[in-house]
Amino acid sequence: MANNKSMSLSVQRYRPELDAEPWWQEFSVPYNEDTSVLEALQFIKDELDSSLSFRWSCRMAICGSCGFMVNDVPRLGCKTFLRDYSSLRIAALDNFPIERDLVADIASFVGKLEEVKPYLFRHDPKEMDTSVPVEEEYLQTPQQVSLYKQFSQCINCGLCYAACPQFGRNPEFLGPAALTLAYRYLRDSRDQGEEERMPMLNSEQGVWSCTFVGYCSEVCPKHVDPAAAINQGKAMSALDYVKQVLPKGGDQ
Ligand code: SF4
Ligand code: FES
Repeated sequence: MANNKSMSLSVQRYRPELDAEPWWQEFSVPYNEDTSVLEALQFIKDELDSSLSFRWSCRMAICGSCGFMVNDVPRLGCKTFLRDYSSLRIAALDNFPIERDLVADIASFVGKLEEVKPYLFRHDPKEMDTSVPVEEEYLQTPQQVSLYKQFSQCINCGLCYAACPQFGRNPEFLGPAALTLAYRYLRDSRDQGEEERMPMLNSEQGVWSCTFVGYCSEVCPKHVDPAAAINQGKAMSALDYVKQVLPKGGDQ
């Protein structure tokens, strides 16, 4: 890291075996035009205080591990640059318990992603029989792909949960990324999981809990637009309700 300028960084510290409460530690970090928040934290760890804990992996906005609150806004550390700030305050992601220093405990978020069954359902048992060689592809038109592609770009960074006031108040709320994932599969022409997923969308912790603040979409680093997915999920849920209450043809 070229040493032409330096910036003061205030970093949240919390080591559960030592600290009753999180506290702030100041560091002065050299930087240039290309220095990211993640690189600044790595400089602190390598040169100033090796006890600092934070999570990262790819350094290219793909793995979703390096989410932090940067001056109170949820951001990816590897995609946020010191050149855009005059001072910085880095903390663990809001709305999650702190595991250690800048590491948020996102287990509840990962559980919600699993809860919405993020895989294709097929109902023909022959298709599920792995001993039978696959002979057919499930082709899709560009139009069919366009219905879910944007919503499939999520990197599971959790920034939208740190931004969501509803999740902050009610940790049971399925939340932006999980509802977007459910919607992504519901719009996939290859999927037959409507029966499995619609009850989640319709439930108390599903799409109707969203108060449409929209901050989730503002902070999303991949432009997934979870607020749009939830809104379209509400339309789908309303339609599903109408289908449930309307008398079925020939039943009367
Ligand atoms: S929807 Fe966006 S902000 Fe939320 S987890 Fe996915 S990539 Fe991150
Ligand atoms: S390190 Fe992978 S998204 Fe930042």
